[in-house]
Amino acid sequence: MDDSRSEAIVFYGATGDLAFKKIFPAFQRMVKSGVLNGPVIGVARREWSLEQLQARAKESIEQHGGGIDREAFPKLMGMLRYVEGPYTADKTFDDLAREIGDAKHPLHYMAIPQSAFETVVSQLSRGGHGRGARLVLEKPFGTDLESARRLNAILHRCFDEHSIFRIDHYLGKEAVQNLVFFRFANTFLEPIWNRQYVENVQITMAEPFGIEGRGAFYDQTGAIRDVVQNHLLQVLSNIAMEPPPRSHDTETLRDEKVRVLKAITPLSRDRVIRGQFRGYRDEEGVAPDSNTETYVALELGVESWRWDGVPFYIRAGKRMPVARTEVIVKLRRPPPIAGVPLVSNHLRFQLGPDFEIGLGATVREPGKPGGHPLELMASHEHDGSETDPYAELLSDAMRGETFRFAREDYVEEAWRIVDPVLDAGAPIIYEPNTWGPKEAATMVPGGWAEGEPQ
Ligand code: BG6
Repeated sequence: MDDSRSEAIVFYGATGDLAFKKIFPAFQRMVKSGVLNGPVIGVARREWSLEQLQARAKESIEQHGGGIDREAFPKLMGMLRYVEGPYTADKTFDDLAREIGDAKHPLHYMAIPQSAFETVVSQLSRGGHGRGARLVLEKPFGTDLESARRLNAILHRCFDEHSIFRIDHYLGKEAVQNLVFFRFANTFLEPIWNRQYVENVQITMAEPFGIEGRGAFYDQTGAIRDVVQNHLLQVLSNIAMEPPPRSHDTETLRDEKVRVLKAITPLSRDRVIRGQFRGYRDEEGVAPDSNTETYVALELGVESWRWDGVPFYIRAGKRMPVARTEVIVKLRRPPPIAGVPLVSNHLRFQLGPDFEIGLGATVREPGKPGGHPLELMASHEHDGSETDPYAELLSDAMRGETFRFAREDYVEEAWRIVDPVLDAGAPIIYEPNTWGPKEAATMVPGGWAEGEPQ
């Protein structure tokens, strides 16, 4: 960790959707917590005045940031600046340099399409604007293994790895961080957390909504690039990783996660089912003959001593019947008791929208020979929505703390895994408000723990 704090933050794409939905609300929180107290400089192409940007920030925080904070908001408005101009123009960056002033470690947050990353990085390296600076990049990072490698090479021309912060907002979620904590903080788990006791692991990300006006972005992306390569492989790494050594080296956690990905063979097409909800092709920004998947179900294996032979299933879909992101670790079924068959136990980690941990157990049915399943549940009083992943992660980046960001080798390993199934032809059409293509139902022997397609 580099303990010199960033004195200024620059955010590209200041007039865009991400700034509106996530960044301004995060800034207000960061002002409130005292992390942000220097210039906050928005950069974008639109010919806006500072007042227009301030009005946009106000609207954003009212709609997405839980309302205006009487102390923090006026402070934020006083710190906000706006630099307008195309990213290709030297003038834009000369104006920006003036606003940054003598800040030694400005944080540059690229809330822009990745096609513009290279232009901005070249501009920053011109005239040494990038010296001492930090760079935050939005996901997805690259569009496949080759482009991610290329992008990493471009960034490294100007930035060291410890100055690069590849954002995956799942790493800022309490419930996702708790997966690692819960595993290693509870002695009863370690003895069963392996191939001898675990039958399979199921990771589901079900979203009831569609693509919400993001057609142009989504159609170039699809479910695998949008959430599997990043969010869901991060969740899987947390479930499957070995405990990091007890040293305080901040890289050890990231090392362990990379080790998990290295033990995964690239996906094969016969273990991947891609779907597209009916009506997707009529969305604005989507090609009328689009083959982009809005649903994916897949199986992979972690070829390590701990996990050999245990299938890991991942499914993610838009227009599903429920909103739920969860992990189910299904344990092997015990033998029958007094001739009565039992169901298997499980651990269930709900990561969103609520934050719950469930222990699926079987108890004796009073007066009968068999048992019945029930779930012992713990739900956190402060659910994931209490903290704001963006504020958390941007605060880390301002402090130079890299451990909650995806490292170069991690991102490349994740692409290596999904690369063979990207753009894999025509998806199966499924009806909105169902659990996706019927073909996915039989992927898991014994069925998914929840939500069979109708
Ligand atoms: C984003 C994806 O990264 O994550 C979206 O681009 C998805 O498509 C979103 O809906 C889900 O995030 P969360 O925090 O609501 O689970």
